[in-house]
Amino acid sequence: MSKFVIALDGPAASGKSTIAAKLADRTGAFYVNTGELYRTVTLAALRSTIHNDADLKKYIESQDIDYHLIDDRIIILWNGDKINQSEIRSSEVTEAASTISQKGFVRKFLLEKQRNCQSLGNIIMEGRDIATVVFPNADFKFFIDASAEVRARRRLAQENETPDNSTLESVIEAIKNRDSIDMNRKIAPLRPSEDSIRIDTTDLCLEDVINKIMNIIEDKS
Ligand code: DC
Repeated sequence: MSKFVIALDGPAASGKSTIAAKLADRTGAFYVNTGELYRTVTLAALRSTIHNDADLKKYIESQDIDYHLIDDRIIILWNGDKINQSEIRSSEVTEAASTISQKGFVRKFLLEKQRNCQSLGNIIMEGRDIATVVFPNADFKFFIDASAEVRARRRLAQENETPDNSTLESVIEAIKNRDSIDMNRKIAPLRPSEDSIRIDTTDLCLEDVINKIMNIIEDKS
């Protein structure tokens, strides 16, 4: 296949990251996680303790947060340093990220950075608005979904992904709350594009999902 972009969108904990990483292995493309970009900006915003949008915009725009190709992987550097996964995945950042990512100046600041990844090679990019906004002309577009309960169970099974003392009910509620914020924001809401292929992973194991997607890609290539 000639140079390609594969867009993978879907709600929180739908399994997009795991699927995208596996697909990258299978196709030899670079895996690009856009949630990490929004999480890094969120961490910057939280650390700045700035609460008004005008000053926050200035501060965020002064930060060098971008993708870089290092050791054959596309990773994010923040002012030259690798980001710390446990910091950007803390429950404080996870909760604030939905709110910070609603801001127009944040989405604008990050849009070109995501688009520029295309120049680095074949990419599998996952997020919320990849097929609708970032790469509306992507070669393949998939929308990965699963029931809130299954997503909550998967999240609980991952270490350090939920606050201490979480219950299935509290994680379902947090997931539904994030879905609602992500789907109802004014700019670039979470939704499948008209030409996205929906994959419901509620009753599928990872291997089945990968095979299903690979069959679609190979059929069309
Ligand atoms: O995929 P994730 O849970 O790591 O994403 C963290 C937050 O970033 C999520 O609340 C929505 C936001 N996000 C977004 O608005 N657009 C993207 N392309 C990726 C993430």
